[in-house]
Amino acid sequence: MSNPQDRLNEPTLSTRGLQPENKETPISFLNTDIVPSHLFFKRNHFSYPKLTYSNYWLPINGLVKTPKIFSLQEIVKLPSKTIKVILECAGNKRSLFEPKVFGEQWEKGAISQGYWTGVSLTTLLEATGINPKAKEVLIEGYDKGKRTDKNNEYSYSRSLPLDKALDPDTIIAYEYNSQPIPFKHGYPLRLIVPNWYGMASVKWIKQISLISSEFKGPYQSIDYVYYPNKENDTDSFPVTIMNVNSTIQEPVHMEILNTGTHVIKGIAWTGAGEVSKVEVSTDHGDTWLEAEIEPTYRSYGWVSWTYEWSVYDPGEYTIMSKSTDTLGRTQPLKPFWNRKGYGYNAIDKVEVKIE
Ligand code: MTE
Repeated sequence: MSNPQDRLNEPTLSTRGLQPENKETPISFLNTDIVPSHLFFKRNHFSYPKLTYSNYWLPINGLVKTPKIFSLQEIVKLPSKTIKVILECAGNKRSLFEPKVFGEQWEKGAISQGYWTGVSLTTLLEATGINPKAKEVLIEGYDKGKRTDKNNEYSYSRSLPLDKALDPDTIIAYEYNSQPIPFKHGYPLRLIVPNWYGMASVKWIKQISLISSEFKGPYQSIDYVYYPNKENDTDSFPVTIMNVNSTIQEPVHMEILNTGTHVIKGIAWTGAGEVSKVEVSTDHGDTWLEAEIEPTYRSYGWVSWTYEWSVYDPGEYTIMSKSTDTLGRTQPLKPFWNRKGYGYNAIDKVEVKIE
């Protein structure tokens, strides 16, 4: 039996909001590479939907040759695949933007990863056929509610361009880490869109429709859009793939350490290609040295890295981490500021004191 005192020491999610429920992963205190479901961050726009599981069906309609309604039993019998995928909220690290932006003040834990199992969306679309006029695949969630900027009720719905929808790794998932997806993360079916920010991975799928025009729902045309200007919407563009990024997990910000050797530990990820290197600086960016990347199978997950730091002079230090991907994208020193605070990926920093 576990010692009750040990249980008190377990990490927990941090609350950013309760209505709707928004909570972040204790990213510095994960002791495994795969986030257990109780430590997976939660990002919702509405209260949880009311679903009757016994009567769950998935309709696929619109510009298809034969509309179909799939039962869960049919879906789980189809060929499945399991992929390690990161979900990172586009607002991860929003609290670090300067000047500050409105919205949930996420720190560094609006990110989690694990093994998702499901059927490729393309397998279901092969069964319905696709009308050549179809341009986008619209995925509607069961949750709905009012927005502060509109009077109507909206469901959480988003579309994918046809090529991304047909990517065999875009899946309709029914398991997370070999268990049915927990209700708050989208049970019974959720979309998983590898490499894109988490907003694309619609939970509690109600229906899928093929459409001929660009979908203009508010979670696509108002939110999850980069607005580079504070005062107007010029030069805006949609949020899609994750930026190259890294997070220092240990030491934690403002930790006090002794002189000696310390292991600096973190994660790095990208939404395009692979992470090719992670560099660490302990002298405000004057010199950068390469961290060691753990040779794990990445799939669409993050890589873990470590760097041994020997420090003999007491004082205050800033530790920085910078990752680069195989497409040559590197974390910038300054983030790309945008009005809604998406895609923060500046070089990560923690401050420590050596005594
Ligand atoms: N799907 C539905 N139906 N409703 C939502 O509010 N939030 C999206 C996405 N899918 C959302 C949704 C956003 S912004 C993110 S980051 C992820 O779900 C979060 O997934 P999680 O709550 O399982 O961590």
